[in-house]
Amino acid sequence: MNILDIENLEKSYKFSKKDKVKVLSEVNLKVKTGELVAIMGPSGSGKTTLLNIISGIDSADGGRVLFHGNDLINMSKSQLALFRRHKMGMVFQEFNLIDSLNVKENIMMPMILDKREMEEMEAKTQELTQLLGISDILNKNVYEISGGQKQRAAICRALVNEPDIIFADEPTGNLDSKSTKDVMNYLSKVNENLRTSVLMVTHDSFAASYCSRVVLLKDGKIISDISKKASRKEFFHEILDVLSLIGGDFDEF
Ligand SMILES: Nc1ncnc2c1ncn2[C@@H]1O[C@H](COP(=O)(O)OP(=O)(O)OP(=O)(O)O)[C@@H](O)[C@H]1O
Ligand SMILES: [Mg+2]
Repeated sequence: MNILDIENLEKSYKFSKKDKVKVLSEVNLKVKTGELVAIMGPSGSGKTTLLNIISGIDSADGGRVLFHGNDLINMSKSQLALFRRHKMGMVFQEFNLIDSLNVKENIMMPMILDKREMEEMEAKTQELTQLLGISDILNKNVYEISGGQKQRAAICRALVNEPDIIFADEPTGNLDSKSTKDVMNYLSKVNENLRTSVLMVTHDSFAASYCSRVVLLKDGKIISDISKKASRKEFFHEILDVLSLIGGDFDEF
């Protein structure tokens, strides 16, 4: 079953009354439930725009986004807000944790907004922080923990309402190579253990190699779609090969 069916997505941005720039063009993408997919592409190719439209943050000019068969584009604002809160988890490059709250409070925030029982919140926080290997830092302040720990806390926060999918825009973009490896290992573990689908944008072929599939975007169009057949290492080399074949703008990775 597909979690996402994206059909003929079109998006332009207006720069002035006359000037319009096409950012996405005829984007078709199907994501199966349980897949871990990376979207790669040069800067400005439309990756964030695509992720924002799929996750209901932005709207398309044409085409459809079906989430388990539900058309996001037809939903009212309040329906969409509720749908997003319960079905989607968001992870960002800058972590977006609240500095004045400790790690545990940050993780609990979506459940607090959802008015859950304290016991349930405690149990969920424990379960997820154990899975993400951060149960020993729950009482720390955000400024006392590393980038990798911040992103693992942000992933826990994205998971507390048991979403069907995590959308992540450059989740390892602010991390060093050791933390990138950690975060990608934990994200794979979440994908395997909780069966949460993941759609992430990344510039990093190493991070992408942890995914089961890599979709390449260039000038707002999907130009390549490759799936992991063997080991992560082999997939990493395959991704590098595809990027070098395409050449040009991809050199800036
Ligand atoms: N709100 C907006 N208004 C106008 N133009 C926009 C807006 N958002 C994005 N764009 C333009 O759309 C194009 C695609 O932007 P997008 O942010 O999707 O690229 P990206 O692939 O995520 O790039 P990066 O790798 O740098 O994050 C760019 O040319 C950008 O300038
Ligand atoms: Mg972007």
